[in-house]
Amino acid sequence: MNATTPRPTPNYAAPSTLKQDKFLTAEQIAFFKKNGYLAIDAIMSPEEVVRVRQIYDDLFADKTGSVAGDTYDLVGGADAGKAKKLPQILMPSKHAPVLLDTQMVANLKGMAKQLLGEAAYMTGDHAINKPPFEGSPTPWHQDEAYWNPAKEYEALSIWIPLQPATKQNGCMYFVPGSHEWEVVPHQPIGNDPRINGLEVVPGAANLGTAVACELPPGGATFHYSRTFHYTPLNRSDDHRRAYIASLSLPEKVRATPRVFPWQEAQKAARAGKAHAVG
Ligand code: NI
Repeated sequence: MNATTPRPTPNYAAPSTLKQDKFLTAEQIAFFKKNGYLAIDAIMSPEEVVRVRQIYDDLFADKTGSVAGDTYDLVGGADAGKAKKLPQILMPSKHAPVLLDTQMVANLKGMAKQLLGEAAYMTGDHAINKPPFEGSPTPWHQDEAYWNPAKEYEALSIWIPLQPATKQNGCMYFVPGSHEWEVVPHQPIGNDPRINGLEVVPGAANLGTAVACELPPGGATFHYSRTFHYTPLNRSDDHRRAYIASLSLPEKVRATPRVFPWQEAQKAARAGKAHAVG
């Protein structure tokens, strides 16, 4: 396929020939439910880590140009022309469906069922690739701050580094117990509505008890949609690659509506920009 060929949304429910071969223990499941996050050392074999990393690097090299429309800079604006500080590919498995036919995905689907229940299903994936020495931090946020405020979620994300994840290169940090908080006020990063990413409004949440989760390649962290998390910038000489999968129980409409004003500010900025260039 070339850049002009539309690609379908990945079929995350596609049956796999691979069966879950790694399982969470009862102790790990209890830890996740109590603390809102969990770290494990291996979600796939070391051999598969090498294979997945090659697929991942080929996607970011994007020699066919097919990925280009699905990349953006989380800390830049939609029209940032310079090098991306926090390059990201939305739905990498749309461009490399082989990603979904891995032990990694068989295991993450099975583990999500262990944590959320049998009805859990995969809803999306993305890839964040922090360049050496200069990748920006991903600021503190709750994932649910990005989502539709009219809906009620029971969802989690699984974050998988494809090289060691360390404090130096940008491992995940979590605030234990924050999954039980409401969605607290967020703003576009730097309070600039042209920016794609969100951050918690400074001072709106107590993040003082955060813990770092360093991992070997092919390890994984799990967090609920409201668990506060962050990754620092990459101070190492290698890329900090992470593959992220989202899984959920069926969404429900919320009984009590809520408003996320930060989303409105971003929409208004994008509409204004389209108008200005149009
Ligand atoms: Ni997040």
